Amino acid sequence: MAEVTLTIDNEKVSAREGQNLLQVIREQGIDLPTLCHLDGLSERGGCRLCVVEVEGSSRLAASCVTAVREDMRVTTASDRLLRYRRMLVELLFAERNHVCSVCVMNGNCELQSLATRFGVDHLRYEPLYPRLPTDASHEKYTIDHNRCVLCARCVRVCDEVEGVHTLDIMGRGVSSRIINDLNQPWRASRTCTACGKCVQVCPTGALYIKETLSAHVEKRPDLPRRIVDARKKRVWNS
Ligand code: FES
Repeated sequence: MAEVTLTIDNEKVSAREGQNLLQVIREQGIDLPTLCHLDGLSERGGCRLCVVEVEGSSRLAASCVTAVREDMRVTTASDRLLRYRRMLVELLFAERNHVCSVCVMNGNCELQSLATRFGVDHLRYEPLYPRLPTDASHEKYTIDHNRCVLCARCVRVCDEVEGVHTLDIMGRGVSSRIINDLNQPWRASRTCTACGKCVQVCPTGALYIKETLSAHVEKRPDLPRRIVDARKKRVWNS
């Protein structure tokens, strides 16, 4: 594969044609924040936390869905980017009911970690406080729409790794909602295999195993990458 040379934070780096910027930035050891990205799944470009500045463009670019180009000059950290990322985290908190103190993922939540990282200790936006349901009809799992950030990791792992596409997104904008099959209660799903992969990749407490105690939740966001690699190599026990 052809090589391209670009500049990231004033350092010249080499990349392979076809790589996205996020991959190359992380290969440089730069800890770019992400939420919807997960190794092993397709990129969605939805959360925009991975935005970077690309010289010559006034718009910020989501690095996970931006391909590397020869002579690109990229900035991954600036006051503008910091302000933008902080605003995105605040908006996520304002959009649904993220009450960390009563969430099973308190202390292990990726959204909470991002808030800590960007110093979000209050919101500058009026919270929407939507009235959203919790579906606890499944024998093993619960989905609490109040905690969902619509990263669609669950949808992608269900489709791309488990191969059943039980989960999907219904609606638009703030009305979007994760659904099972044709928007039925989870227990009524005919396609769900109860594999639990959706739970393991969920970054917040939106999906969890029933009767889980707070502070005992450990999810497996590395699962898609491990499964995808094992399938490719046909090695299952490494
Ligand atoms: Fe790139 Fe979410 S990680 S947009």
